[in-house]
Amino acid sequence: MILAVVKETKTSERRVALTPDTAKTLVKAGFTCTVEAGAGTASGFEDTDYEAAGVEVLPGKETILGRTDVLLKVNAPTAAELEMLREGSATLSFLYAHTVPELLDIYINKRMSAFAMDAIPRISRAQKMDALSSQANLAGYKAVLLGANALGKIFPLMMTAAGTIRPAKVLIFGAGVAGLQAIATAKRLGAVVEVTDVRAETKEQVESLGGRFLQVAGNGVETTGGYAREVSAEYLKKQKELVTKHVADADLVITTALVIGKKAPILLTQEMVKTMKRGSVIVDMAVESGGNCELSEPGRTVIKHGVSILGETNLPALLPVNASELYARNISTLLFHLVDSDGFKWDLDEEITKGSLITHQGELVHAFTKELLNTTA
Ligand code: NAI
Repeated sequence: MILAVVKETKTSERRVALTPDTAKTLVKAGFTCTVEAGAGTASGFEDTDYEAAGVEVLPGKETILGRTDVLLKVNAPTAAELEMLREGSATLSFLYAHTVPELLDIYINKRMSAFAMDAIPRISRAQKMDALSSQANLAGYKAVLLGANALGKIFPLMMTAAGTIRPAKVLIFGAGVAGLQAIATAKRLGAVVEVTDVRAETKEQVESLGGRFLQVAGNGVETTGGYAREVSAEYLKKQKELVTKHVADADLVITTALVIGKKAPILLTQEMVKTMKRGSVIVDMAVESGGNCELSEPGRTVIKHGVSILGETNLPALLPVNASELYARNISTLLFHLVDSDGFKWDLDEEITKGSLITHQGELVHAFTKELLNTTA
């Protein structure tokens, strides 16, 4: 089976889908691996490292894709890349399928199979393939560092001859993968950390990391497959009442609230931002899904009412070495799960295959993507 990795084309992307180490494992297992020249350079992996791992490094996508069985990418393939691939070939990448109907048409017309790394079910068996988690974990770490850097204050309590500096206050919305890592990172740097989440069961995890949990009265929210469902307007109102004072007191607010397949809930309104101290900072991690802060802008830092609002859309790409290493392990584990010595197993009822396979043999086969496409149509 011929695998290919090409250079990512998305602006400011620095990750690569396979590292020389993971490529070596795949080559050892009998795959033929081809990498586009320069694909790993931005993550610190040189063409010569891939060659030493038994990978064929070639210039230009056309030659590579025309003979590829499986394309491995970080971001969704572009329409041009899909057109270069052969009929019946497969791709593994982040896809967010319901947001790219135009690509799904190409997959369907060319009878290609699309596996989406963002659709892998959050079950124990699939943990090693869970790229959303591996990348969100790093993103949560980086969000705190960016926030700390933008703040004119230090995080820890410091007693000096010139006086005592009080610790910074960090407020985190959402204690999922990114939020938990953000708590741990902010605590390590010495901040006082407060956290709110709609899932009441996160209280214990927050407290075990040294955070203080702000609990909205009521039962919180149900979850599906490890993800929160949308909460009611009444719940969001109660949450707002609870957190408003804490937002005004915070030096840094990090928002990570996500409801899968939906626009991110607005948790920080303009009115709330106005109550914050001048010089405080918001990092809106959900900016790409519409933003948890009313004033954040994707890919930009804006200053509104004296508050810096960071809307970095690709935090993992700021840590390309580790992000690529973890992603490469995620994607190669999925590949090993899907194939045996005869090629793809196409066990369409198996949970991980069913969860992540979006198109197959000229059809859109993924139930949740169908549902999302119908609701956004
Ligand atoms: P997750 O699903 O593990 O966590 C999201 C958390 O938000 C859950 O615990 C959920 O219960 C909570 N939540 C939902 N509604 C809420 C509300 N109204 N108030 C408080 N909490 C609420 O997701 P994960 O993997 O931690 O990702 C978090 C966010 O970060 C997502 O929006 C994701 O797209 C984004 N992200 C952004 C990156 C970037 O570069 N900007 C990189 C990676 C992730």
